Amino acid sequence: MENTAKKRIFSGIQPSGELTLGSYMGAIRNWTVLQDAYDCVYCIVDLHTITVRQNPADLRRRCMAQLAQYVACGLDPEKSILFIQSHVPEHAELSWILGCYTQFGELSRMTQFKQKSQRHADNINAGLFTYPVLMAADILLYQADLVPVGADQKQHVELCRDIALRFNHIYGDIFTIPEPFIPEIGARVMSLNHPEDKMSKSDPEGCVFLLDKPEDIKRKFKRAVTDSEAHIDYNPEKQPGVSNLLSIYCAATGKAMPDALAQFDGQGYGNLKSAVGEIVIETLRPIREETERLLKDKAYLENIYKTGAERASRIARRTLLKAHKKLGFLPR
Ligand code: TRP
Repeated sequence: MENTAKKRIFSGIQPSGELTLGSYMGAIRNWTVLQDAYDCVYCIVDLHTITVRQNPADLRRRCMAQLAQYVACGLDPEKSILFIQSHVPEHAELSWILGCYTQFGELSRMTQFKQKSQRHADNINAGLFTYPVLMAADILLYQADLVPVGADQKQHVELCRDIALRFNHIYGDIFTIPEPFIPEIGARVMSLNHPEDKMSKSDPEGCVFLLDKPEDIKRKFKRAVTDSEAHIDYNPEKQPGVSNLLSIYCAATGKAMPDALAQFDGQGYGNLKSAVGEIVIETLRPIREETERLLKDKAYLENIYKTGAERASRIARRTLLKAHKKLGFLPR
């Protein structure tokens, strides 16, 4: 049964690479916390991922591994709807419709489009351009109230609101107007070797992956960039590396920053790096072990995503047909 009394949350993560400590502390962990208070729908957005050329075998493996990691992190398929975007065709269908209510100029102003078309100058395809329209369809199909995203996706959620308001203005109350739900600061994990940048899979030595082996995590923290101030303080401007280590420590232990600072007061950077490395190893160990166990049980994972797609489809179809009717399409 869908519980309609709770507010609904929708969020998506691309299966474009391996999940990182950044995606865990910045997104997935928050998703698990929201599961009781909200009616949550979480999606692996594979349609978005093909805006950049993918290797099919890798994409298939990553989607499965990502689902296993979600579950290992505590996303509960009994509480939340977990599904894969391409399994629910309503996403692509509503996306076409919404595209007819989105202006070329609006999409041209999207920061991410501008960045990605620079980075992939040899493949500036139409999907890259209409990416935010598909994202709007994702959100609006489920009548989501809240959309947990990183700051970089806020502009897309705002465009989604504009599209929904425009559509509702013409056709009546079809879509719930969603709000971006940006997690509190401190959850932003920076690269270990370029601490002024966000932790990114494109820089594997500065990035901890959820499935990294303990010895790899240890090495990455050992080599983490610090500074020459030689004292441990939280000051992201002046000491980005040390501050990043401290905030990872706080996120992993649940300690408040003043307590962490008191604990490390007077210690050397070497100690800080190994302490943070250790706590990250212990945080990720059960997730890696559970993921490995789940990946051996393919039938169980398939059952999760099939059931998820059925539950998602029921909601999505209702919204899509409502829009069809308002647009003047003949009933099927
Ligand atoms: N564009 C998002 C990102 O790259 C992923 C995404 C796709 C998404 N559809 C969504 C996030 C809907 C929230 C809601 O991070």
